[in-house]
Amino acid sequence: MSKKDGKIISFINMKGGVGKTTLSIGVADYLAHYKGQENFKVLLIDADPQFNATQALLDSYYEGDYFKDILPVEKTINRLFKPQVQFSQQYKSPTPEEMIIELTKELHIVCGDLNLVLANKSSDYTHVKRLKRFIKDNNLREMYDLIIIDCPPTLTIYTDSALIASDYYLIPNRIDRYSIIGISSLQKAINNLKGEEDINLECLGLIYTILDDELTYKQQEMKNNFEQKEEVQQIYIFTSYTSNVKDIQVGKQGPVPTMYKKSRNDLDDICTEILDRIQQGVGVK
Ligand SMILES: Nc1ncnc2c1ncn2[C@@H]1O[C@H](COP(=O)(O)OP(=O)(O)OP(=O)(O)O)[C@@H](O)[C@H]1O
Ligand SMILES: [Mg+2]
Repeated sequence: MSKKDGKIISFINMKGGVGKTTLSIGVADYLAHYKGQENFKVLLIDADPQFNATQALLDSYYEGDYFKDILPVEKTINRLFKPQVQFSQQYKSPTPEEMIIELTKELHIVCGDLNLVLANKSSDYTHVKRLKRFIKDNNLREMYDLIIIDCPPTLTIYTDSALIASDYYLIPNRIDRYSIIGISSLQKAINNLKGEEDINLECLGLIYTILDDELTYKQQEMKNNFEQKEEVQQIYIFTSYTSNVKDIQVGKQGPVPTMYKKSRNDLDDICTEILDRIQQGVGVK
């Protein structure tokens, strides 16, 4: 197998419910299984204590039981953040076997874990670089074409860890009255982090999510106002976007967007634009 040079992207917005998880699992699944001959090898890392990405992907691709075979043996991201029992022992990154579940040949996952909520309280902030180290110590960039991190919508050790480990961040954004707050808080968090840590992080862009076929006058106005804000003017805005597909919320085929034709078309455009952006080496607009 040829050596890869996988890029790491955090899907992040400080605002909740904007479609981060749906987009991150959609992009991961689409690149791994639907992109024709060029199928990619993808690792999805679920850094959100809500572990929605984990539930959705395990439901689709995993035959075992998360609560029986994964959680009890701590084959989850929590392994990176739990307090060290013996301080005399030097910290060693877990191996891929200890952390990664192979859903299919092309799509692997580091599962999320509700216990992260507890770890955030007890964890030493020095653990913030463990995700980066896990990737580096195991040469994961050489194993995957893309590593996608689904982030929670709040500033925690997990969002910091994800950003520190990443080459890029991508901002899923839903148009509403408060969209700008999520972006401003995110930019502030990233600037703080850049001040403190030696990181090499570029903004891949902003993707509009859950768009109705026709924007109402009000929505269009909100979108225009949003795009005129100074923070937003610095950001590349994707021409591709995700449509509002009601079945993602209520459909029998579950929450993974590749199950629905309209979403697959959206994901095809989005994946192409993501790959183009990476290939062109474009960061900030
Ligand atoms: N393209 C879409 N069309 C219709 N509904 C969608 C779409 N994308 C996401 N949703 C729905 O919107 C809600 C929020 O989506 P999602 O969980 O992906 O957001 P999130 O930003 O990850 O949320 P959180 O901040 O809680 O992590 C969910 O009910 C999801 O099913
Ligand atoms: Mg989410």
